[in-house]
Amino acid sequence: MKKWIIIMALLTTTFLSASQVIILLGPPGAGKGTHAVPLKDELKLPHISTGDLFRSHLKNKTELGIKAKKYIDNGELVPDELVLDILQERISQPDCKEGYILDGFPRTSAQAKALEKRLSKQDELKVIYLSAPDSILVDRITGRQSCSSCGAVFHKTFSPSKKSLECDHCYGKLVQRKDDTEEVVKKRLVVYHAETKPLIEYYKSKGTLFEVDVNQRDKAEIFNEIKSHLIDASVYSK
Ligand code: AP5
Ligand code: MG
Repeated sequence: MKKWIIIMALLTTTFLSASQVIILLGPPGAGKGTHAVPLKDELKLPHISTGDLFRSHLKNKTELGIKAKKYIDNGELVPDELVLDILQERISQPDCKEGYILDGFPRTSAQAKALEKRLSKQDELKVIYLSAPDSILVDRITGRQSCSSCGAVFHKTFSPSKKSLECDHCYGKLVQRKDDTEEVVKKRLVVYHAETKPLIEYYKSKGTLFEVDVNQRDKAEIFNEIKSHLIDASVYSK
């Protein structure tokens, strides 16, 4: 009897410690950041964007930020060791215990494998792949405006802020990211096709990938589709 109580206690602990890991995968400008925000609010899971983490390091002039800068500015991937360091540090924090939403990670097969090693058997991984043709992405990115204070994302034409260059949420200043020029975006797309796109087949083969077409559709419609995939996968009820 005592033995069973111990086993049940262990199972309960294991079940409670299982976490939900959601990956938003897609090319630059597909809407990873846009959809991560409402998802984070609804699922009460932290939103972890490796790009945002690097930008915050850069703002604080840390050694890591300074090392990453040249890659980001040129539209190249930051080397895996640096990315894994920054991610490991972030997901070890207590708010990630029940899971997290990854935006812009993994981007290489080495990163995908490193993440997998970290997950336990109970953890549930769901990948939402936001698909779009390259032709629409340059406009989305070159017109993007990001809040320098809270990180909210707007677009000069597709979703302008109420007041020019002012964030609707926190009244912070809207800025254009340094890597959001046409030249750098084109480079980022080449890198995406070479390094990150193979992950689509990788996650498809594991049966964890849901594809959502984000071309010519409004954000609310796309978000509803993301949500319905996650409801089907029981993420919302957990
Ligand atoms: P990161 O910051 O992750 O940039 P990214 O992946 O290139 O993606 P973006 O943030 O540009 O696009 P998004 O999909 O978030 O689109 P958004 O929602 O803003 O990375 C930057 C750099 O950091 C990398 O190039 C690399 O150097 C480095 N890095 C980061 N992670 C790394 C990693 N794991 N490994 C190595 N290096 C790494 O939307 C874009 C615009 O479109 C917005 O203006 C939005 O309002 C608009 N929009 C969104 N949806 C719609 C819609 N349905 N209709 C119309 N407009 C829309
Ligand atoms: Mg983003």
